[in-house]
Amino acid sequence: MWIKYLKLLNFRNYEGLELHFHPKINIIYGNNGMGKTNLVESIYVLGLTRSFRLVNDRVLIHKNASMAKVEGLIENRYETNYKIILSKDGKKVNINNNKVMKLSDYVSKINIILFHPNDLKIVKDTPSIRRKNLNIDISQLNLSYLKDLNAYNKLLKQRNAYLKQLLVSGNESSDYLDILTEKLIDYGMRIYNERKKFIELINQYLSDIYQKIAGIGNLMIKYVSDYQDLNKNEILRLYQKSIKKDLSFGKTNLGIHTDDFTFFLDEADLKDYGSEGQQKNAIIAMKFAELELFKEKKGYSPILILDDLFSELDQQKIENILKLVLSDIQVFITTTNMKHFQNFNKNDYFHFLIDNGKVMEG
Ligand SMILES: Nc1ncnc2c1ncn2[C@@H]1O[C@H](COP(=O)(O)OP(=O)(O)O)[C@@H](O)[C@H]1O
Ligand SMILES: [Mg+2]
Repeated sequence: MWIKYLKLLNFRNYEGLELHFHPKINIIYGNNGMGKTNLVESIYVLGLTRSFRLVNDRVLIHKNASMAKVEGLIENRYETNYKIILSKDGKKVNINNNKVMKLSDYVSKINIILFHPNDLKIVKDTPSIRRKNLNIDISQLNLSYLKDLNAYNKLLKQRNAYLKQLLVSGNESSDYLDILTEKLIDYGMRIYNERKKFIELINQYLSDIYQKIAGIGNLMIKYVSDYQDLNKNEILRLYQKSIKKDLSFGKTNLGIHTDDFTFFLDEADLKDYGSEGQQKNAIIAMKFAELELFKEKKGYSPILILDDLFSELDQQKIENILKLVLSDIQVFITTTNMKHFQNFNKNDYFHFLIDNGKVMEG
């Protein structure tokens, strides 16, 4: 899958822009603050309808405008035109100039794997950040995953609200609570199985890719869940045991909403024992493992975005990563320095110099 053409209107600091891309490598370069991230962000928004930067949609619209438009032509066996319009009244999406009423029917048609400097926090950050990343990644591969997750979260809210009600009334058992618990477990088990399968598949690629980047080290992700290897009856019993605690807290203490995954390098927890460099390499390896998995599952490559990946890496690691990129995949790389690419064949890439919302094609 690749994006041939992109048109922006009032997106961030781009008042108007039309670009044709290279099917393989597109290097977006320029000084800081010029609009490099904004450009790749627009591609991400076109695919996922929201930014990877945790921002309100309003800030995606040029500060002097009231609406923004991103349009792109995607080639994946055949060409499809995608369009998203952002305004104060929300967002509208089109496929081949036909209005798509439900965002969920639009999202994830354009598949994107993104690396962003914030991702470096995945190893160190809270479990909720890791779960969020995991959810985004799995839902690109499996559309029903997101539906299960939404259903689970709705049930979780209902169960928590009902626990609070029981707390007030002083009741301990209720048929309604049992029904909610059982439904929660059913969805939870589906999500658990998807997460488990996904991490197992990622692990098949992870160490090999890590070694290609860093030289040595055995890397694996360990999935930690309350549901670990349990059947439904065993999980039900866990909830029964936890009922007093649940009632006194007025919330559900067990379930896949507390899941976590941990990186282990040579059997040591990377969060506690890893250097910053090892943690970075692990995240990059995970992104590339996801890419391989995606190719295997879907039979085509997603679009890869590497935003500011190279600013803190040494030249050897950069070259190792660039070797991984040189396959049949379209990649967008933002950088302040073109010298990383001096060994590239000029036919393999386009480069775009970004200067304050204006682009010069090289
Ligand atoms: N909604 C907006 N309207 C106009 N300019 C914006 C908007 N949002 C961000 N910018 C400008 O975009 C620039 C930052 O762009 P960014 O892509 O993050 O830079 P970099 O090239 O360092 O990645 C800043 O100058 C900022 O003022
Ligand atoms: Mg940037």
